[in-house]
Amino acid sequence: MLLLATSLLAIPGHVAIVATGRVLQGLSASVVWTSGLTVLTETFGPTNFGEVIGYVMMSVSISNTAAPLLGGVVYSRGGYLAVSLMTLAAVLADVVMRLLMVDARQGGPGSLAANDRHKDVEDCEGGNGADDRGRTNRAQEPSSETLGEREPLIRKVSPEKAGAHQNLPELPDNEFTHTFSTFVICLAPEPDRIVQEMYRVTTPGGVLGLGVWADPWFGYTSDLWTKACKQLDPRYERARIMDDEWTQPEQVKAGLQRTGFNDVVLTTERGVWEWENFDAFAKYFFDGGNPGNERMIDNWKALDRSLGEVRPVFKRIVEEEYGQPNGTLKGYVPAHLVTARK
Ligand SMILES: *[C@@H]1O[C@H](CO)[C@@H](O)[C@H](O)[C@H]1NC(C)=O
Repeated sequence: MLLLATSLLAIPGHVAIVATGRVLQGLSASVVWTSGLTVLTETFGPTNFGEVIGYVMMSVSISNTAAPLLGGVVYSRGGYLAVSLMTLAAVLADVVMRLLMVDARQGGPGSLAANDRHKDVEDCEGGNGADDRGRTNRAQEPSSETLGEREPLIRKVSPEKAGAHQNLPELPDNEFTHTFSTFVICLAPEPDRIVQEMYRVTTPGGVLGLGVWADPWFGYTSDLWTKACKQLDPRYERARIMDDEWTQPEQVKAGLQRTGFNDVVLTTERGVWEWENFDAFAKYFFDGGNPGNERMIDNWKALDRSLGEVRPVFKRIVEEEYGQPNGTLKGYVPAHLVTARK
């Protein structure tokens, strides 16, 4: 529309044409201005908007000062048509650049959205050793459907092998657009090294997705286990499952920034864990191979006590605390969900 209006103004002569041109120009200029501001807000967000709008205002001032001067010079040399052609060229350039603009939400080089549905994925995941052992609310596995058309490279590592992920020597630098790890680094012996390796293999501008537990004691199981053990043997000491460093929100953010990640966004969610019955829960707790649960069990065994003694007491307490009217068990587990950008 701005192009049409400017073309109309290039035709010299009739007042009606000039008036129509000016009206159209005014209308389209307001659309361009408003949509421009919208795009800036969407792309840069509220935190960076101030800086960006500064550049915009600077450009407006420079144009307002330079345009009449330039117009005058071109008019005196080339006449009316030359000025119009110069204006048309500027508008045309604007149209071309708008058509080339990449929508930040759809991603593009250096502007990957945190939920971009493409490219390769490195999943330094452990899960909790429970997903195949009776949890009724299994997390949905990422499928090629949720990750876009291209077949993603997904690797999974069980918690027992978490240490193996401290090194990803077979993976090249800057390879993956998305790298994620769910609930394993807070249990691993050297979490910092895992995060450093994840940083290394992530492409610049790529996105890290991280799930970490929000409670270093993992009270969901350890509150009840400790209660049961202490009832039988007051010497039992509650096991500390994880470090503050990768469970406390401020420390998790600081850890990622220290590694080099930017734009860290952390939200804390209350996850719901449901089990069909105590047997399903016990399979996860006693046989799931989860390193956190094993630490609790080891503290009991260290007192030379047997699991057979504590199991019925634990069962009673778990059913009291988490039992639902329909016989299932349900409890809450707080977790941090984090995204960051390299
Ligand atoms: C049992 O009840 C809980 C809440 O009381 C509910 O969340 C769950 O879906 C129910 N499970 C079944 C299998 O009906």
